[in-house]
Amino acid sequence: MKEKNLPSTVGRESNSSDANPSSVGDDVQRHWQGVVKRRSFLKGLGMAGVTLSAGALLTASGKAQDLPSKGKLSKGDAALLRFAAAAELIEADLWQQYNELGGVQGGNPAYIAALSNLDGDMPQYISDNTDDELSHAAFLNAYLTSRGEEPVDLDAFRTLPSSQASGAKDTGRLTNLLKLNVDLSWYTRYRSAKNPDFGAKLKGPFTIKGQPAIPLDDNDTPPNQPQPVPPTSPQQARMQAIANTAGFHFAFIEQGGASLYPTLAFKATDPEVLRILISIGGVEIDHFGLWHDKAGNAVAQPLAGVTDPETGLTFPDLNALNSELDQTNLILPEPCEFINKSLPQCSVIRPTSTQNGGAVATIQAFTDDLLFLGQSPAFFRLVQKLAVEADSVRRGF
Ligand SMILES: [Fe+2]
Repeated sequence: MKEKNLPSTVGRESNSSDANPSSVGDDVQRHWQGVVKRRSFLKGLGMAGVTLSAGALLTASGKAQDLPSKGKLSKGDAALLRFAAAAELIEADLWQQYNELGGVQGGNPAYIAALSNLDGDMPQYISDNTDDELSHAAFLNAYLTSRGEEPVDLDAFRTLPSSQASGAKDTGRLTNLLKLNVDLSWYTRYRSAKNPDFGAKLKGPFTIKGQPAIPLDDNDTPPNQPQPVPPTSPQQARMQAIANTAGFHFAFIEQGGASLYPTLAFKATDPEVLRILISIGGVEIDHFGLWHDKAGNAVAQPLAGVTDPETGLTFPDLNALNSELDQTNLILPEPCEFINKSLPQCSVIRPTSTQNGGAVATIQAFTDDLLFLGQSPAFFRLVQKLAVEADSVRRGF
């Protein structure tokens, strides 16, 4: 059969349309033409609606062309992006603090050495994660502006103190990293077949409470001390415990983003907003997977067993427990209950319910983490308002 008006694309040569009709390229081409015809038919009848007005439009030549959505966002889509922008500003603020001290250009050699005991590439990963969050925040605010919405501005709340240690800039912060409670339930959750969206309550393998994740000052942890494995002096042990806490905090933050973005994406109406939320969310998941792997090195030999002499926090050897809920290299998600318990278990991001992974849950988790320790009531009012507005969105409004 001779096909008409075929573009010379998708792995076929223009003079070979009949030469090899059973080739994979031909099958793809034929399917693609069918899609074009169906879409053209729907468009002609005025039935394409939202899909064609805001998504990929197909030209007469059969080539997909992504056209931007235009005009004002719906109230719901704007609320979703505003909360995402706020979350990214918060993330960017904390990552900048880590980057100043422990990134590639970081100014605290002992902190960098202690982080590098988890993995030699930690400074590079910290710098790159920081760049990602800055790009997310800047993009989301610019996109909001481009669609006629107010960007999110948290600058008035950059009031929290900086670390006094070598490397940290002396400037106001949105977030606190000087004393953290780090929820480690994600560590067990992703090794478990249980899902919080079905009511599962999972505890972490140990507890991090009231622990710094960045050096406090140069008396507490001298910036040029060596960081042998294992540490031999109390100050070396202190610095290693601080770096280990950071390692677990990185994963805690990013698993929050990994759950948050799906909950926001479910509610998006404009396909372009959906595309933004899924695309940024995928990078949060990428970050989480990386940090999950690196954190495990703090609780595996040869580094396991470090105790902070100030707080008494010990990083145990989790592989010594001989348990699949603790084993450090089991970092890929275990299949778990999903959607309906009668269906087969599935390896998924979890939680993804609004209640457990949505915007309010994210702010609550960050608050429990002490990330906002010292913030003003006005800050909490603003982020709660943005979170409630985002969680209240229903697709189509
Ligand atoms: Fe981000």
